[in-house]
Amino acid sequence: MQEFHVTPWEVSGEVDYDRLIERFGTSPIDEPLLERLRRLAGELHLLLRRRIFYSHRSLDWILDEYERGNPFVLYTGRGPSGHTHLGHLMPWMLTRWLQERFGAKLLFQLTDDEKFLFKQELTLEDTRRFAYENALDVVALGFEPDKTEIFLNTEFIKSQYRLALKVAKRTTFSTARAVFGFTNETNIGLIFFTSMQSAPCFLETERQGKPVPVLIPCAIDQDPHFRITRDAAPHLGYPKPALVHCKFFPSLGGGSKMSASSPESSIYTTDPPEVARRKIMNAFTGGQESVALQRKLGGRPEVCSVYSYLSYVFEQDDARLEERYRACRGGEMLCGECKQYLAERVLEFLREHQRRRERAKDRLEEFMVRD
Ligand code: TRP
Repeated sequence: MQEFHVTPWEVSGEVDYDRLIERFGTSPIDEPLLERLRRLAGELHLLLRRRIFYSHRSLDWILDEYERGNPFVLYTGRGPSGHTHLGHLMPWMLTRWLQERFGAKLLFQLTDDEKFLFKQELTLEDTRRFAYENALDVVALGFEPDKTEIFLNTEFIKSQYRLALKVAKRTTFSTARAVFGFTNETNIGLIFFTSMQSAPCFLETERQGKPVPVLIPCAIDQDPHFRITRDAAPHLGYPKPALVHCKFFPSLGGGSKMSASSPESSIYTTDPPEVARRKIMNAFTGGQESVALQRKLGGRPEVCSVYSYLSYVFEQDDARLEERYRACRGGEMLCGECKQYLAERVLEFLREHQRRRERAKDRLEEFMVRD
């Protein structure tokens, strides 16, 4: 097994998600927990059913509190280093569903500070601009304006700074270095940054003057930040935030993570439909070298990026997905046909999303908070 590496700022190698649970010390979202969610929510979101959200910390506690009449607040975010791609939307889609099903308030943090610090080539103006672009995608997903606060760290600092300071004081350099792999060359802004990402976890408790449970839907690479937050929380008199973690959205180039740094292997929400189609038609598949071989040996859906896309969200019908798997394995279905099918699905989604994104421009200010 090839070694893999996961931190909030670097993912490399072929990720083994079960081993990641062990390494990080999180818990799998098991069948009884899924059943409990289904009962409380009235249904299960596709991303839960398909085990894309597969790991958690303290989700059972969140549901205990909910059943006791102590509702939770949702918190998630985005590092605005470029346009939004489909992978970024996954945690936000689950968040949107949780807001609707549990009537939860949402805090959405745009870390323009983080991406300025992390990306040599980006100015504060760049990260601010991308933050506002990304916010349109959040709004387009249909969050409720009176239950949602979206903010840029540089524009909402007063409300967060005191909370960030408390976390910073409880976190040593030695811990941060061990968790994130910092070196002597790391700029000192990044060393502080994890306290900024922690701040929203405690904001509602401060505001309401009583312990408010917080649930964070995020990709599993963000967990290291919140391990630090959770360690600090009891010392500061706050409840530990709970998390649900998802796997990474696959790359069209093969490999386990859609990366903003290889534009041809990611589909951006701003891509014109024809660009998205081209990317899909050029995608890495599990197909054989020739039609004859494919007919004879069958394809390999388990390594195919097109199949992954379908199984993540773009084929919602379980029976049809299974049929496609079988037809591919059996050499009945060829890659061209499969790519066409995916392209139609993705374009349908993109057209609708882009329409909503346009409309979001007039409504953005209903969501933004500043201080
Ligand atoms: N650091 C995250 C990123 O690079 C952005 C972020 C801020 C976030 N707060 C969050 C992500 C809370 C998930 C949950 O994308």
